[in-house]
Amino acid sequence: KFEGLAETPPMGWNSWNKFACDVNENLIKETADAMVSTGMKDDGYTYIVIDDCWHGERDSLGFIHANKERFPSGMKALVDYVHSKGLKFGIYSDAGWQTCGGKPGSRGREYQDAQTYASWGVDYLKYDWCNTEDLSAKGAYLTMRDALFEAGRPIVFSMCEWGTYNPWEWGEPIAHLWRTTGDIYSCFDCEYDHGDWSSWGVLQILDMQEGLRKYAGPGHWNDPDMMEVGNGMSTNEDQAHFSMWAMLAAPLIAGNDLRNMSDETKSILTNRDVIAVNQDPLGIQGFKYQMKDSVSVWFKPLKDNQWAVCFLNRSREEKKAEFDWEHEKVIDEINHLSPGFSKNEYSLINLWNKKDKTSTKNKLKANLKGHSVLMYRLEKKR
Ligand code: DGJ
Repeated sequence: KFEGLAETPPMGWNSWNKFACDVNENLIKETADAMVSTGMKDDGYTYIVIDDCWHGERDSLGFIHANKERFPSGMKALVDYVHSKGLKFGIYSDAGWQTCGGKPGSRGREYQDAQTYASWGVDYLKYDWCNTEDLSAKGAYLTMRDALFEAGRPIVFSMCEWGTYNPWEWGEPIAHLWRTTGDIYSCFDCEYDHGDWSSWGVLQILDMQEGLRKYAGPGHWNDPDMMEVGNGMSTNEDQAHFSMWAMLAAPLIAGNDLRNMSDETKSILTNRDVIAVNQDPLGIQGFKYQMKDSVSVWFKPLKDNQWAVCFLNRSREEKKAEFDWEHEKVIDEINHLSPGFSKNEYSLINLWNKKDKTSTKNKLKANLKGHSVLMYRLEKKR
């Protein structure tokens, strides 16, 4: 694969969560415009990724073209437009003979499609896993990796086989990120039953990340799916979702309509302090330290011996977060990663409420609303 790409978790937007198959060139252009005008571009969001259903047919030579009604100017012109905004362009295909949406897949056409994407100026490929009955996942993703490499353009490669074959175990030399789960659903705590498959709420997806943190790092990330911030959950829930994706060093791919966001949604997606936790150059995925009375406590090491800490209230009821920095065993675990932790005093910088000021000298005592987080950066006092 191309090295040196996605050294921090990719940030951007993807059409699927909000628009599914209802994609067209105006949507993509207006989204690129909104990425700039909302300030999201300046906060680090870079990739505009068009998901399933952009496709028209293959021509007599087998080259894929965009759907002519929905993309009358063609894909190259659209990519150029996105690039003219200083953003990067992502596209979608599938390892099987058809995409999940029933469009032409790349099976047997991997090299040809990779050449086409490179000629359009594509910077990112999300590669899905529908209609792959007799394929080996590793083999199929290797083929596309090699095809992209051969095409010669640095393209971030995002594997989307839903964690079916433990991609974290073999994904690092192949892709820059891999989905670890089935599809996310816009709710905090639920399973949505589609009949022969399910999609999952934020907490369900979170629980599926157990044991995977050791596989992530710069250039190779666990992908717990794109975000549902702004797609119908409450403000607390959206904040908690965004915070936990930051703690997990997950790709921050917005999945809402950027053209008309509420102020709350925008302020969540553009919280630079939380983004900085996600984008920390160490690229270490956070870990769950403890779980008490529905409140889980997560730590993520950051550069310069700093830490991010997140208290997550999983229940609907209000809970008390109580944490004694001196007496919690956390000191052992953290001392191991950051020698001297227990001897230092840290300021707690509340990343969702700047007015809250306290330090590890004091016990932490706070009320946590249902489905919400308290998130801090721990900065060493000199
Ligand atoms: C399944 C993937 O998991 C989704 O993220 C989305 O890409 C759809 N397929 C598109 O059909």
